Amino acid sequence: MAIRPILRMGHPVLRQSARPVESVQTPEIIELIKDLYDSMAAAGGIGLAAPQIGVPLRVVLYSVPAQRMAAEATESGLELPGIAPTILINPILSPASDHKVDGWEACLSVPGLIGRVPRYEKLRFRALSPEGMILEGDAQGFHARVLQHECDHLDGILYPQQMTDLRWLMFAEEAQKLNDPKETKAVTEALED
Ligand code: NI
Repeated sequence: MAIRPILRMGHPVLRQSARPVESVQTPEIIELIKDLYDSMAAAGGIGLAAPQIGVPLRVVLYSVPAQRMAAEATESGLELPGIAPTILINPILSPASDHKVDGWEACLSVPGLIGRVPRYEKLRFRALSPEGMILEGDAQGFHARVLQHECDHLDGILYPQQMTDLRWLMFAEEAQKLNDPKETKAVTEALED
């Protein structure tokens, strides 16, 4: 077990495309997965991709806090439980349609900043579990957003590169002063991620 330092925007590993994992239950991958859990817990994030701890392999760890799902459930009328920290190996995302929605995102590799990023609203995902089982399912809303953010790290993409209006890239401290209660709430939630 090891807490590894999280690389910041500008580090070359964060610009690379990560390699697929060829064999899941090797000592190297088992150690990487432990380190992702330890590093994410230490940093207090909800998602972490292997390149962020300097390992250019297609592995992500992500979670969705129950309160985020609950907030969306109230809006959509659906019951959506949270998602406990989950490892996805070699994930593939397939958007359900071209429809994108804007939402605030922060990233452990871009500390102090926050931005409004358009993301596909619904998608299907497919990946391998740490045991080598196929994991697949549908995601929407915040769940879909987290998956897109984490999987982008595997292609050397950080969220500012997905933004279409850079006026909404700002220091978190400034974003918290936005004079709109709905935006302020969304910013606060994104910073808790
Ligand atoms: Ni990130």
